[in-house]
Amino acid sequence: MNFNNLLIDWYTIHKRDLPWRHTKDAYKIWLSEVMLQQTRVAQGLPYYEKFVERYPTIYDMAQADEQEILTLWQGLGYYSRARNMHAAAKTVTDDYSGVFPNNYKDILSLKGVGEYTAAAIASFAFGLPHPVVDGNVYRVISRMFAIKEPINKPLGQKAIRAAVSEIFDTKRPALFNQAIMEFGALHCTPKNPLCTSCPLQDNCLANEKGLVNTLPHKQGKTKVKSVVHSYLYFQHKENTYIEKRKSGIWQNLHQFPLTEENLTLFELIENANLLIENKVSLEIGPSFSTTHLLSHRKITAHFYTIYLDKKPIFSKSNIFEIDLGQMGAIYPTSVLTQKFLNQQKKDDK
Ligand code: ADE
Ligand code: SF4
Repeated sequence: MNFNNLLIDWYTIHKRDLPWRHTKDAYKIWLSEVMLQQTRVAQGLPYYEKFVERYPTIYDMAQADEQEILTLWQGLGYYSRARNMHAAAKTVTDDYSGVFPNNYKDILSLKGVGEYTAAAIASFAFGLPHPVVDGNVYRVISRMFAIKEPINKPLGQKAIRAAVSEIFDTKRPALFNQAIMEFGALHCTPKNPLCTSCPLQDNCLANEKGLVNTLPHKQGKTKVKSVVHSYLYFQHKENTYIEKRKSGIWQNLHQFPLTEENLTLFELIENANLLIENKVSLEIGPSFSTTHLLSHRKITAHFYTIYLDKKPIFSKSNIFEIDLGQMGAIYPTSVLTQKFLNQQKKDDK
């Protein structure tokens, strides 16, 4: 049997039953693919269901409020995906009369849609012959063909693409794409791939040459930088004070006023006094510290509670007042801030 038949037979038996595999609705397929970038299926699935229920069509999403979308997206990370998705939904309703574009070029032109997502939508929704190349495909192909060039460099990526197009099943693009990704996710896994029970082992050069554990090869992994965040959690009666981030990975999420350095008690009070313009007396309450890992940052975060005896007037005009319980509920925030809020809830019990 040839490679494609072996792979597709494996898929037919072992595939997971996932909701986006039962639809040809390009909107839902797009939604699932955006969510599954950088996110495991088990983690993404509940978000997919929540979004499909809240926004059954692309019109519903286009009309939604960005803040609500970000609130539903909280915890998935890489929030630019949600912001871009919202922009693309508007493009489809405004420029394509709400009909999802049905060709690769137009799909690729949507905000946040890269080559991978465009190929996935084109093949799954429209049956077009575009191979998907995601992390799973990189791994399976680099092993099958014993490609040693680093897969995070143009040379390796070119080699992988060339190899994929050699075996790509142009007659069954959707099936082939789902099959190879699923095979990478479940069978030819990063650690301990199941080579001894692998239907492709006779076709696999890494298996033949003993290279399975050294492939795929990556060069110079991204460095993780250590930073400190000191958040000022002001409280006056049932209110607290927050700001909306203007840029970076947490753009449009909310946070307590932040200083990006380690503060002594003296500096903490000094910072708070600089922020507040009217005469208010401060009382330092409990603090909470935690570390939070992002792909490129290790954040050591301190949350300082500061009680105020009067309503404060802030020198920074972007800081605004909310009810204590609204953070994370109405105002979307990062998982880091959620950790602090959860701790607060426990302490209150
Ligand atoms: N990861 C990315 N796309 C996927 C899909 N369609 N099914 C399962 N896992 C995926
Ligand atoms: Fe992957 Fe091992 Fe199968 Fe090769 S033999 S495709 S490395 S699981």
